[in-house]
Amino acid sequence: MAHAASAAAHKTVTSGPYDHAGAGVYARHRGLQRGVLEAVLAQCRESCADTVLEVGCGTAMHLRAVREATGCTCWGVDPSPAMLGGCAAGSAGLHLCRARAEDLPLRAAWIDLVYSVDVVHHLRDLDTAFDEMARVLRPGGVLLTATDSEATIRARPLLSGYFPETVPHELARYPAIGRLESAHAQHGLEIVDAFVVEHPYVLTDVRPFRERAYSCLHLISADALAVGVARLERDLPLATVSRNYVIVARRQGANRGRL
Ligand SMILES: C[S@@+](CC[C@H](N)C(=O)[O-])C[C@H]1O[C@@H](n2cnc3c(N)ncnc32)[C@H](O)[C@@H]1O
Repeated sequence: MAHAASAAAHKTVTSGPYDHAGAGVYARHRGLQRGVLEAVLAQCRESCADTVLEVGCGTAMHLRAVREATGCTCWGVDPSPAMLGGCAAGSAGLHLCRARAEDLPLRAAWIDLVYSVDVVHHLRDLDTAFDEMARVLRPGGVLLTATDSEATIRARPLLSGYFPETVPHELARYPAIGRLESAHAQHGLEIVDAFVVEHPYVLTDVRPFRERAYSCLHLISADALAVGVARLERDLPLATVSRNYVIVARRQGANRGRL
């Protein structure tokens, strides 16, 4: 199924979700996932974090909010220059750089909290990325991963409800929760909590869907997109909800304090 999904994607993709045009669409149409942000802020408080890293920070909208709410020193990495290019460069306490999760340009054992939002399904090598995220965390530090489970993918009211052709692609590219659990265990990360967060909102504008601000909309045909957009447009305004599956883990090992 994964092979069929990627072959179909190859035929229909007209531009990348995170290339220059895609990054502009993302910056215009994607907003903060407030449930995820609250979960990150709660972990900052509970672990008395001073140093935070967002892996796959994109336009850095979550990282900026974390910096503003906590005053933590924040680092963000992302491989897409276009996504990073949309961020106002270099504000105090906020450091952004072009890098992949699989090769983090940071020294070992000094970050208090590492998190990612909607990134693990993009990773080329999940195990190397988890190894890297564990490496940069201080012992006792926290890793928070916001992703989707099979259940949250199938229950997406908009993407799965109006664009059902996205579902097999998403199930093929998102790592199953069991696979993520073993990646944690293999890299000395003890899962301490897992839960679903919700962000209810009212959709009033169909453009995020028409302009493919969600990467899975790059994986379906133009016809399927047009049918879903027309149905969605008829139903606006529409009260809806976005959900994320959140995993919180702690790096095992003696807590040697902040290095
Ligand atoms: C859905 S966007 C999420 C961006 C950001 N976390 C947010 O919530 O707005 C996914 C991001 O993952 C980044 N990405 C793709 N492959 C990656 C990798 N191997 N390591 C780190 N980030 C990656 C993409 O460039 C993109 O910015």
